[in-house]
Amino acid sequence: MAGAPITFPRGRELILGVSAGIAAYKSCELLRRLQDHGFLVTVIPTESSLNFVGKATWEALSGRPVSTSVWENIDSVSHVSLGDKADFLLIAPATADVIARLAQGRADDLLSTTVLATTAPILIVPAMHPKMWLNQATQENVRILRARGVTVMEPDVGRLTGKDSGIGRFPETKTIIDHVSQISGRQAFLSGKKILVTAGGTREAIDPVRFIGNHSSGRQGLAVAYEALKAGAEVTVIAGATDPFTLEGAHIIEVESAQQMKQAVEAEFVHTDALIMAAAVADARPHKVSNEKIKKNDFLEIALEKNEDILASISSIKGKHQILVGFAAETADNATSLAEGKMQAKGADFLYVNNVSGGAVFGSEKTSGTLLGLDIAPREFNDVDKFVVAGEILKEVGQRLERIHG
Ligand code: CTP
Repeated sequence: MAGAPITFPRGRELILGVSAGIAAYKSCELLRRLQDHGFLVTVIPTESSLNFVGKATWEALSGRPVSTSVWENIDSVSHVSLGDKADFLLIAPATADVIARLAQGRADDLLSTTVLATTAPILIVPAMHPKMWLNQATQENVRILRARGVTVMEPDVGRLTGKDSGIGRFPETKTIIDHVSQISGRQAFLSGKKILVTAGGTREAIDPVRFIGNHSSGRQGLAVAYEALKAGAEVTVIAGATDPFTLEGAHIIEVESAQQMKQAVEAEFVHTDALIMAAAVADARPHKVSNEKIKKNDFLEIALEKNEDILASISSIKGKHQILVGFAAETADNATSLAEGKMQAKGADFLYVNNVSGGAVFGSEKTSGTLLGLDIAPREFNDVDKFVVAGEILKEVGQRLERIHG
């Protein structure tokens, strides 16, 4: 039976303000790439920008409702709630008009009121004709905004919509994302990295109605996936049987058996910077899966065969630039030295060993254990939230990736 639904504290929320420049269409691609970087995006277009890209497009791409005015959803006081919730506010493209309105502190639509109501970092990406960009009024407004701590990017130089060319082009998506990553700073220490996480337990079929399974809820693996998303990584979760969850922003691959999990891990691993094997993989499966339901009088013995160890087999193909993290559960007094042996035998760079001597870790929100690593001193955790351990594991992974990639 499935346990309580798994809830996550909250992902990195980004508001994408869109004003009425033709470059609005390029922000559709920008939105997608921001999602790949783990941001949960809410779009706030200005009313006139809807002439270029309509509400339906933004709603479909973001998967969230879109409004332009403070006079919609009045009960939720949208501008304040959106401003509070935002970890980042990006306005792209920003027209001369929106820049002027923000410089004046105007509050005449949902975007401008949200800008006033937020304390999140703000990045403005202007796009307009060179004459408008270089006009003293615009330059003065940009200076005012920069003096207030808002980052205003320089537009690119090149061909514009008409025959003209010059300064005023909307910068490349990658350049904008680099600015977002830089400003969101240390929080996004896995930006541009691909993290693969396995979570939950595998189920090994006996016959069409029965299986061998375990009590894993998937909480620890999903906490790692969530923290990786928050740290800006592109995250894929290979999920066995877990408690119910929705994890916005992650790519989820569902599997049942250890063999399916192994295939999925092998297919994904080549594109991955770090694999975190938090799944409780069954060590064995029935030697033969019966096509028919086995009758109770015959259901006395199940012959088993060993499942291959996914972590150990992946470590034999891993590149120098890739990192492996394993988990273990021990009850013995010498848990740490047993786990160190396991880490080495399986070729993992890090291993978190759950101390399960005092009771269940399975299904619980808390964990006690030790994080081991090839080049770190063992770190103890005592009855902490699984999100805490997930965050610490990822910090170590991030530092190691930085050392490897320089
Ligand atoms: N693992 C795996 N493939 C398996 C079994 C386990 O990749 N077929 C991974 C798990 O995802 C986890 C680690 O190996 O990262 C756990 O190893 P395991 O040897 O099963 O450790 P324990 O759970 O501590 O079990 P035991 O002490 O019984 O060996």
